[in-house]
Amino acid sequence: MRRILIATSNAGKLRDFAGAAMVHGIEIGGIPNFNSLPLVVEDGSTFEENARKKAEEYSLHAPGEIVVADDSGLEVDALKGAPGVHSARYAAPDLDGTEPHLADANTDDEANNARVLRELTGIPTEKRTGRFVCVLAAARDGTTLGTFRGTAEGIILDAPRGKNGFGYDPLFYFPQIGKTFAELSAEEKSKYSHRGAALRKLLEWCDGARP
Ligand code: IMP
Repeated sequence: MRRILIATSNAGKLRDFAGAAMVHGIEIGGIPNFNSLPLVVEDGSTFEENARKKAEEYSLHAPGEIVVADDSGLEVDALKGAPGVHSARYAAPDLDGTEPHLADANTDDEANNARVLRELTGIPTEKRTGRFVCVLAAARDGTTLGTFRGTAEGIILDAPRGKNGFGYDPLFYFPQIGKTFAELSAEEKSKYSHRGAALRKLLEWCDGARP
């Protein structure tokens, strides 16, 4: 069985990866002692840059293994693509480009959502388009082998709806099934989400790249 290691300390993400990968006969593992490794600073200007940087640096701690890292976020067209790579800490007061981007200084979901809503005040529904983006990068021994991008297109509501999920899910209306991402079950979310789409591309690549 082929194996990939996921560079995350998030048990939920590991479970999602493991469930999807099993169907492809791929074993999923964590990086040994992940939590004691130095944090990789996510200071790239694109999701690809951040995912590659994390995959490459963490792969040096697991020689010979394929290591996968992700970066994800919300792009709102009326906000010129913001919050984008700053999604996790959009409500931080220093987020004006003058301070270094601190990977461990995320702000809470409610504050991030409030900032997006404030900035979209008065913008009509047809101009509230946006997308969730997830990029997965696979690296071995410090070199990226491939990146895989998944997106989900939607509309940013003017008030939250739904109790499931996390982050910007309650604001993200997905017209394809007439629900916000916070109104989806875990199964529906992995079927329609940016993360599910990126993961399916990664797994197809793993199928083709079998040594
Ligand atoms: P990360 O890539 O897991 O660090 O996610 C970055 C940030 O993007 C999160 O903190 C959320 O604010 C946002 N985000 C990424 N994926 C999702 C999602 O599936 N739902 C809601 N928010 C998300």
